[in-house]
Amino acid sequence: MAIQIKTENEIAKMRVSGQMLRQVHDVVARLVRPGASTMDLEEAALAKINDLGVVSAFKGYHGYPAVLCTSVNDEVVHGIPSRGRILSEGDIVSVDCGVIVDGYYSDAAETYAVGSVSVETDRLLRTTKASLMAAIEAAKVGGRLGDISSVVQTLCEAEGFGIVRDFVGHGIGRAMHEDPQVPNFGAAGKGPRLKAGMVFAIEPMINAGTAEVKVLQDGWTAVTLDRGYSAHFEHTVALTKSGPQVLTL
Ligand code: MF3
Ligand code: CO
Repeated sequence: MAIQIKTENEIAKMRVSGQMLRQVHDVVARLVRPGASTMDLEEAALAKINDLGVVSAFKGYHGYPAVLCTSVNDEVVHGIPSRGRILSEGDIVSVDCGVIVDGYYSDAAETYAVGSVSVETDRLLRTTKASLMAAIEAAKVGGRLGDISSVVQTLCEAEGFGIVRDFVGHGIGRAMHEDPQVPNFGAAGKGPRLKAGMVFAIEPMINAGTAEVKVLQDGWTAVTLDRGYSAHFEHTVALTKSGPQVLTL
């Protein structure tokens, strides 16, 4: 499918969706601490989603059982919330959530430090977050898709981290996953021309060690092959003539 161009009215609806999603993230953020289980985060997110009267984009998606993905330490993405998964000091947890409001999707992820983490882990979190923000800055009308990808790759490889290739960002709108794929690796100046009205979920998934990942027996949880930690940050971003607009802040 061709890359969908959204009208200003559609982008306004997606911004409402993104603002609702941010409220869910804010509730979850306050609960991240040693001793909390990933199911505690899920239950709080579900309650907030219901309070807001919005719909989860994840639950039921290809049979996915929860409104959050909670991916701890070496889990890269799609960790399933569990009563038995208790967060400890020094862990990191990626919280990924999506909602649908009036037919429009938003998708965002944050990775939190649980208590204080090692210097190396802190560097992984800061670099991954910085690469997302720099990639958003690179999402300029008139540029190319590869401009976004190359920024993430360049910043994260300079720090010696592994860029996950098995999962990528995506167009988003009336579906969670629209064209194009938005990889976290690639060449500036290459790929489709960026146009006003395109909306992308940009989501670097960056590993402390090897880029290689595998999916566990549960069919969902992706982990690093070397068991090194992995960070993930994501925003839904609209491209406009006046520059990129983050819809999930
Ligand atoms: N945020 C993820 C993405 O960008 C979606 C999670 S998969 C689901 O593709 F099954 F949980 F929905
Ligand atoms: Co996404």
